[in-house]
Amino acid sequence: MTLSRRLLSAAACAATLALAGGAALAAVNAKTVIETRQANFKSMGKAMKAMNDGLKADTPDMAVIAANAATIRGLAPKINTWFPKGTGPEAGIKTEAKAEIWTDPAGFAAAASRLEPAAAKLETLARAGDVAGARAQVRIVGGTCKGCHDKFKQD
Ligand code: HEC
Repeated sequence: MTLSRRLLSAAACAATLALAGGAALAAVNAKTVIETRQANFKSMGKAMKAMNDGLKADTPDMAVIAANAATIRGLAPKINTWFPKGTGPEAGIKTEAKAEIWTDPAGFAAAASRLEPAAAKLETLARAGDVAGARAQVRIVGGTCKGCHDKFKQD
C-alpha cells in the first residue's frame, strides 16, 4: 500500500468512526430526551390525579390543589422544548409521540400554549380558596391535556 493510500484509508476509518460515534450519541440523546419528557408528563399526570381526587372531598385541602396546579404551570411552558427532531417514532425508542408533532409544529405549539394559563388560573382559584371555581377549572385543565393528546399522542 502506498503512503497516500494508507493515509486515505486511515482518514476513511476516522470518518467512519466519527459517524458511528455521532449516531450512537444521537441515539443516547434521543433516549434521554424521551425518558425525561415521559417522566415530566408522569409528574403532570400525578398532579392532575391529586387535584381530581382532592377536589372530590367536601372540604378539599386547597393548599394541595394549589401546589399541584403550580407543578403543571411550571412544566407547561417547557413542553415545546421536549420534542427536538429525531425523538419521534423514528427514534426506535418506545414513545407515544405522534409524527404530527413535527409535521404540524404550529398546531402542537398552540396546544401546548393553552396549558400554562389554564393551570395558572386554577392555582389562583385554589389559593383564593374558591372550591367551586377550582372544580370547574380543573376540568378545563384536563380538557387542555386531552386536546393535545387526541391529536399528538398515541393512545
Ligand atoms: C402539547 C401537547 C400536550 C399537552 C398539553 C399535554 N400532553 Fe401529555 N403527552 C403528550 C405527548 C406527545 C405524550 C407522549 C410522550 C412520549 O411518549 O414520548 C404525552 C404523554 C403523557 C403521559 C404518559 C407519560 C408516560 O410515558 O408514562 C401522561 C400521564 C400525560 N401525558 C399527562 C398529561 C397531563 C395530565 C397533561 C395536562 C395537565 C398533559 N399530559 C398535557 C402531549 C401533551
